[in-house]
Amino acid sequence: MSLATAQQLDAQDALASKRQLFDLPAGSIYLNGNSLGPVSKAVKQRLQTVVDLQWGDDLISSWNKHHWIDLPGKTGGKIAPLIGAEVDEVVCCDSVSVNLFKLISAALARHELRFPDNKATILSQQDNFPTDLYIAEGFTQLLGSARVELITVTEQDLESAISNKPTILLLTQVNFRTGAVHDIEAITRFAHQQNCAVIWDLSHSVGVLPLELDAWQVDYAVGCGYKYLNGGPGAPAFSYVNKSLLDKLQQPLQGWMGHKAPFDFAADYQADTGINQLQCGTAPILSMSALDAALESFADVTVADLYEKALGLSEVFLESLASSGAADSLQLISPRDASKRGAQLGFSHKDAYAISRALAEQGVQTDFRSPDILRLGFSPLFLSYAECWRAGATLARILEEKLYLEQRFSIRNKVT
Ligand SMILES: Cc1ncc(COP(=O)(O)O)c(C=O)c1O
Repeated sequence: MSLATAQQLDAQDALASKRQLFDLPAGSIYLNGNSLGPVSKAVKQRLQTVVDLQWGDDLISSWNKHHWIDLPGKTGGKIAPLIGAEVDEVVCCDSVSVNLFKLISAALARHELRFPDNKATILSQQDNFPTDLYIAEGFTQLLGSARVELITVTEQDLESAISNKPTILLLTQVNFRTGAVHDIEAITRFAHQQNCAVIWDLSHSVGVLPLELDAWQVDYAVGCGYKYLNGGPGAPAFSYVNKSLLDKLQQPLQGWMGHKAPFDFAADYQADTGINQLQCGTAPILSMSALDAALESFADVTVADLYEKALGLSEVFLESLASSGAADSLQLISPRDASKRGAQLGFSHKDAYAISRALAEQGVQTDFRSPDILRLGFSPLFLSYAECWRAGATLARILEEKLYLEQRFSIRNKVT
């Protein structure tokens, strides 16, 4: 593949105009949209309006006048079509970690209604994103090992572990290291046959992988607002609960914003009847407004088109990289078959950290994931095929010339 071929792909790219929605720094190729999506012009403008005119001029009346109070539901409603859900099944609030706690607890409460005497088990994957495991572990510690236990297995052993009928299956669709993708529909169906509730973490899926949560009869899901959705650092996450489970949903973080009438200030908690009951405290309106504005860039695109482009970008990168023999020193840990991976690639190399720093110095932003993974995200809203070709060529040159061996590239930052 030549640069000219990549440029031809750009000329035919129906999503190319989306790039103008973002203010990306000149000379930078941003392969980090899977970690922190870039700021869009709409977000900048919205934040300015919220700070200057809403908070600034209208102060507290903004809760009603500018509908701040409705933002968690409204923003969730914008995410709903991206995940194949109805608008009243999704709410934005808190972080993925906190939402997982609520949903694990909700799933367990429902199980205990049916089987009050059974010890429960939560099944997850050993290489799931650590926060998912930490939250599940903390949850089991809170309730005690006589009541609930966390079991983790390798991906290879998942199917047989699900056959053992765990109470809750907690999985992330796209493996954060390798990009390998789980078949949500098939796994959910199999888990349901075993009477097991499923919670999906869609942090590396939402906004880039086609999802049909309602059609696939998913029970619960969570996902990040700051990755492919471009909601900004620490953007609120979202929770999805299948409508069939909203009735009698019970979650322990009973903050006043999940109450059915928070401004009655009643002493007793009465949960809102809908998805709103997953809210806890006051929404971070600046972050929520940023996420709400960021979602505007998805208004006239299909996720299927975004997915196809993301895979195309990663293929161009791989072909450009492969034109150098030095690429053999990297080991691709992602599935080579594009249909089996998300919008990211991972490579292992003993100097992966130094390579990511050397790339950054050449204007190519990537992630390092401990202990030895170079990770690249192919966010289709703003990346071009030519950029991905150049990134592949830059990496090849860094490897050929061993530029990463320079001492300064091995100094670790606090956030890697
Ligand atoms: C799969 C996955 N789940 C959860 C998180 C963390 O989410 P939060 O910081 O919102 O708790 C991340 C962060 O990168 C992630 O990749």
